[in-house]
Amino acid sequence: MRKQPVIVMAVLTVVLFSSWVSAQGEPRIRNGQAIYEEHCFRCHGLTGKGDGPDANALLVPPANFQTMRSRAKTDFELLTIIAYGVAFSPMHGWRGRLTDDEILEVINYIRTIAPFNPAL
Ligand code: HEC
Repeated sequence: MRKQPVIVMAVLTVVLFSSWVSAQGEPRIRNGQAIYEEHCFRCHGLTGKGDGPDANALLVPPANFQTMRSRAKTDFELLTIIAYGVAFSPMHGWRGRLTDDEILEVINYIRTIAPFNPAL
């Protein structure tokens, strides 16, 4: 009888810990995907190839995240571009429109569709 609370606590700890672990992973990506589909996909395309529905109307084509040039960029380089934009291009800075966390989430999502590869 005296051992029961210990077992209950152990089971609870495992359950709580595993839901905490999954909370660290999945919603981050889903949130980044939601932000991407709301704000970025019209230019950059669903798979990041720069072929979104608005891409043809732009004089400066949207970056293709699948290229060697793009995949070799560090997260910090992407962060700077997303936060401050690219001068003289339709890619304006998102600082102020997205929170710092949302910018990190969206970088995380871009890295799932076009993984970082410094060797490319
Ligand atoms: C109006 C169209 C448009 C929208 C919307 C847009 N972008 Fe861009 N983006 C561009 C263009 C154009 C470039 C390329 C600028 C250049 O030639 O360097 C670019 C470049 C980038 C780059 C640099 C990639 C590289 O390898 O140089 C990143 C990262 C990026 N965009 C992320 C985003 C994110 C994240 C969003 C949504 C929050 C977004 N963009 C929304 C048009 C857009």
